[in-house]
Amino acid sequence: MLDTRISRRAALMGAGAAAAWLASPARALLQAAGRMEVPGFVNDLVGRMTLEEKAGQLSLMASAWGGGAAAALNPPSDSNFPKQLEETRQGQLTGVFNGNGARMARIMQTAAVKESRLKIPLIFAADIIHGHRTIFPVPLAEVSSFEPELARRTAEVAAFEAAGAGIDWNFAPMCDVARDQRWGRGVEGGGEDPLLGSLFAAARVHGFQGSDFKSNEHFLACVKHFAAYGAAEAGLDYNTVDISERTLREVYLRPYKAGFDAGALSAMASFNEISGIPATGNHWLLTDLLRGEWGFQGFVVSDYTGDEEMIKHGYAKDGRDAARIAFLAGVDMSMQSGLYRMYLPDLVRSGEVPEATLNTSVRRVLAAKHMLGLFEDPFRRIDEKREKSRSMLPRSRAVARESGRKSIVLLKNEGDLLPLPRSGKKIALIGPFASGQHDLVGPWVVYGSDANAVSLETGVRAAVADKNSIIAVEGSKVEQAIPGGIDQAVAAAQAADIVVLAIGESQGMSGEAQSRADIVLPKPQQDLAEAVAKTGKPIVVVLKHGRALALEGAVKDAPAILATWFLGTETGNSIADVLFGAYSPSGRLPASFPHLSGQQPYFYAHKTTGRPNPDPKLDDYKARFRGITNTALYPFGHGLTYGKIAYSDFAISGPSLPMTGEISVSARVTNSGKRAAEEVVQLYIHDRVGSVTRPVRELKAFRKVKLEPGQSEVVRFTLKRDDLLFYGVANTPTVEPGTFDVWIAPSAEAEGVHGTFELTA
Ligand code: BGC
Repeated sequence: MLDTRISRRAALMGAGAAAAWLASPARALLQAAGRMEVPGFVNDLVGRMTLEEKAGQLSLMASAWGGGAAAALNPPSDSNFPKQLEETRQGQLTGVFNGNGARMARIMQTAAVKESRLKIPLIFAADIIHGHRTIFPVPLAEVSSFEPELARRTAEVAAFEAAGAGIDWNFAPMCDVARDQRWGRGVEGGGEDPLLGSLFAAARVHGFQGSDFKSNEHFLACVKHFAAYGAAEAGLDYNTVDISERTLREVYLRPYKAGFDAGALSAMASFNEISGIPATGNHWLLTDLLRGEWGFQGFVVSDYTGDEEMIKHGYAKDGRDAARIAFLAGVDMSMQSGLYRMYLPDLVRSGEVPEATLNTSVRRVLAAKHMLGLFEDPFRRIDEKREKSRSMLPRSRAVARESGRKSIVLLKNEGDLLPLPRSGKKIALIGPFASGQHDLVGPWVVYGSDANAVSLETGVRAAVADKNSIIAVEGSKVEQAIPGGIDQAVAAAQAADIVVLAIGESQGMSGEAQSRADIVLPKPQQDLAEAVAKTGKPIVVVLKHGRALALEGAVKDAPAILATWFLGTETGNSIADVLFGAYSPSGRLPASFPHLSGQQPYFYAHKTTGRPNPDPKLDDYKARFRGITNTALYPFGHGLTYGKIAYSDFAISGPSLPMTGEISVSARVTNSGKRAAEEVVQLYIHDRVGSVTRPVRELKAFRKVKLEPGQSEVVRFTLKRDDLLFYGVANTPTVEPGTFDVWIAPSAEAEGVHGTFELTA
């Protein structure tokens, strides 16, 4: 009784304090800087909480409401909704994730703010990885656009739909650099390059969070999976990461840092260990580095049962030990294991966990809820009508179509086979992805539906003058042959002028726990491609994939190849825009396509070794494989346009760059083709001699320029000392005087134009 009275007054005080803060001009500034402010009422509240309530505030569970793709992806351990409501009333839950819509959120939030002792609002989280109802290209695809601003816009639409449907907190962006294409989760991230990944991480945080945390058009971003989850040995998901601190800092940590610098106020610890210590129990990572060195002020959540998994890692002896280790390392909130609410109260009572540390974590979580506006209005994002009215608006679908076509990479276009004519030719669409609405949206879609997605056949039929000029034949399932399927496909190809071969991976072949030992096309589809190629008809391969692939045989040899990934709701329209030339492809690979699977991990920014092979020649006793060079078939940054692009006239402002000055480099980029083109002009450097060896090339900048037929433009970049930093012998950023190569080029392995300069002391 007494507690209830106090809590009502506290809630009122909280509302007053919150209103004053809302009016304060400092708010926007703090938010932009990733600052977390703990208002006085939060301290009051913490003072009133029991140890059990505090541990409850640090316990997040999968929604028990049931149904939906979320439940299949992450089955709640106990799908008893009435029980979860009771836990809410008892203050045993901080919130739930991947629930099913605003109605569920309303029921739960009502229980929290009307029936729990302290009336602390719940937080609703979800994995909105590439769209809520309108599904955008998978993150890796979108990075192919080399347009971070596009990612900001799709993130903004995703937030608009999802926050309108009751979601306060998004488990994205995924900022893991992925350099091994066997790893299935590369599809969720920013590719192999730390600069590109960082720019997209920051753009996504800006899109999700906007400039006002309290807005019901935005939600809290969560930088994940911290850290180096993508460096798993052999690309095997969840596997060990054993890495030097230098590579960690120079490559893997950068996109996370960019996400935090952009203002993300939550982080998710990764499943993997790093050099012997699981990330979830890694005090150096989660406290010394994240908070001490980087000044992160938000809160850290474990990944799904990540704390409990330290038992299997062999790092904790039981659940109690795991809770203690994770908490003391810096994991504020436990996801799904329930270990915190089971053990933290007792760990405090026994003195193993200081109550002050517990209070700090609770304060962070409550402050985040406050910043999201949940104390002022716990229902601000929960509205069943708005959930529907914001869903899949035409303008959102337009962004999906635009982002779809900008995510497509033209790998090859011999004889200018593409774009295809809209009339006068019969086209056979062949392959498991020729028709149907399966495998369009891509992995990690919790709330979107296949039924809303535009198939390739639908998109193509809408683009051509005569719908009867199109015939679609499946030919093969993704991983299984269809009896008679190849014969039907060959007959269709023979009756057509052009074949569009839609083949690749199903969406279930990438994503979490979907590592592949061999990154080739499944055999039934390769057989289909070989048979269709024998007809001699011109083939445009339209690849569907969640990773860079090792292409073989007739697929590799086809005259035209489009890398189309998983493009989401507007897939068919986006591909048709490119196929028929309504849009001239402008995407570039964010991950290198190797010659063979066995080259993995392959990435452009590798070291030279003491015995570099003189590619493309194969020399003896050099760093190469039997029979092939260790280069890419299609490297990072590669992508063609419908124009004809040439690089010339390298110019540099001087022979040397003084430590405090800058140097400008430029190239002339010309489109001598008959069609307009958008070229992604890339700047790479190589530091020839260092106290620590340097990669053969590093991307330092890029610019997308639009060139009309016959147009030419001088593209200029500026380099300063700070662009040349690397982690030296002492693992701190440094530069050393010496010679640098610089290229302005269309990909990481193309020569483009080249020059050198000296960095002088
Ligand atoms: C994944 C996370 C995800 C979480 C919650 C885990 O299995 O690793 O990326 O956010 O589940 O759905």
